[in-house]
Amino acid sequence: MPTVQADRLTRIGAALLKAAGASDEEANAVAVGCVNANLAGHDSHGIIAIPTYIDRIKAGHIVPGAKLTIVQESPTTTVIDGNWGFGFHINAKAMAMTIEKAKTANVAACTVFRQSHVGRLAAYPLMAMREGMIGIATADSGRSPKIVAPFGGREARLGTNPISIAVPSDLKAPFYLDMATSAVAAGKIALAVSRGEDIPTGWIVDSEGRHTTDPTQYRKGGALLPLGGSEGYKGSGLAAMIEVLCGLLTGLGFGVEPTGRHNDGCFMAVFKVAAFRPLQDFKKEVGEFARYLKATPPSEGSTGVFYPGEVEYIREQQRKAAGIEIEDATWDKLRALAGDYKLAAELDLA
Ligand SMILES: NC(=O)c1ccc[n+]([C@@H]2O[C@H](COP(=O)([O-])OP(=O)(O)OC[C@H]3O[C@@H](n4cnc5c(N)ncnc54)[C@H](O)[C@@H]3O)[C@@H](O)[C@H]2O)c1
Repeated sequence: MPTVQADRLTRIGAALLKAAGASDEEANAVAVGCVNANLAGHDSHGIIAIPTYIDRIKAGHIVPGAKLTIVQESPTTTVIDGNWGFGFHINAKAMAMTIEKAKTANVAACTVFRQSHVGRLAAYPLMAMREGMIGIATADSGRSPKIVAPFGGREARLGTNPISIAVPSDLKAPFYLDMATSAVAAGKIALAVSRGEDIPTGWIVDSEGRHTTDPTQYRKGGALLPLGGSEGYKGSGLAAMIEVLCGLLTGLGFGVEPTGRHNDGCFMAVFKVAAFRPLQDFKKEVGEFARYLKATPPSEGSTGVFYPGEVEYIREQQRKAAGIEIEDATWDKLRALAGDYKLAAELDLA
């Protein structure tokens, strides 16, 4: 398993995307976004996704160079058609527009549709956080085949529908939540399969709706369960509301896109903190709140409390220093693509 420094990985990802037809700006947005996911420890949304994005370009599902269109707008709202552009690029532009509106209007929101995968959702609320705003983003995880069963059901009818909220603070490690609303990411099931390990009860049901610890049942017609275990109705409800914001409010609809074209619907909102109270006071108090949470005496077997976003920051520091471990299968795909595009020598991937 090679260990690769983040800047080299970004260079490789961007060069491959450019060779596949992406502009410099698009390729950099996607490669930086993926490598930032690796740095945060979310490898399922990291460089592993680039070969898939290239396949989608080849299939005509992602349109390099696509310009977004504003379908409808007001001083506080924007409805954006991504025209099948790269989600990383389109969604970042949508968030930038929303932040600009909130600079004068104090609050602003947007919906985005017809764009490819947006990746690690935190990237967008973190943009608002850096401008002294609270940022919220939800995504309906695309209208590709569903993988999460609604609470009480045995058939997948929801996506992993993530939500992310980022908050300004005076902390070094940003205070932000970024999570799927399924019990676990689908990638963790695949990992257990490849390691021959059992999974805890509460992660999946098999095709007959039985709880199982056998991860291979997931690919045999099983489904992921919503977040919350025996109280999974809360995760299920949250996922359903996210689908309303991202699928129905955008006009995308629910269920599975019959053409198989990945289509990430997003709803994003930002709130300028200074419209509610002085930004510096708020930032200081969020820092104090985080330290208050961290000072909680640990429960049995726990190493202590982390506030939201802290784990990602710790991993980022470690991985920036030590590099990112890339599984052999992903590395082989990147090398094969470099060979196809005659970039192997230039990228030192021969
Ligand atoms: N674009 C999409 O379609 C899509 C769909 C699903 C998920 N995602 C992304 O996948 C990534 C992974 O999501 P996930 O739900 O598997 O992540 P996860 O289970 O690691 O949960 C992440 C959240 O929990 C917090 N956290 C983790 N460990 C903690 C601890 N010990 N104590 C306190 N807080 C802790 C993190 O700070 C973070 O806010 C996210 O970046 C998400 O945006 C994207």
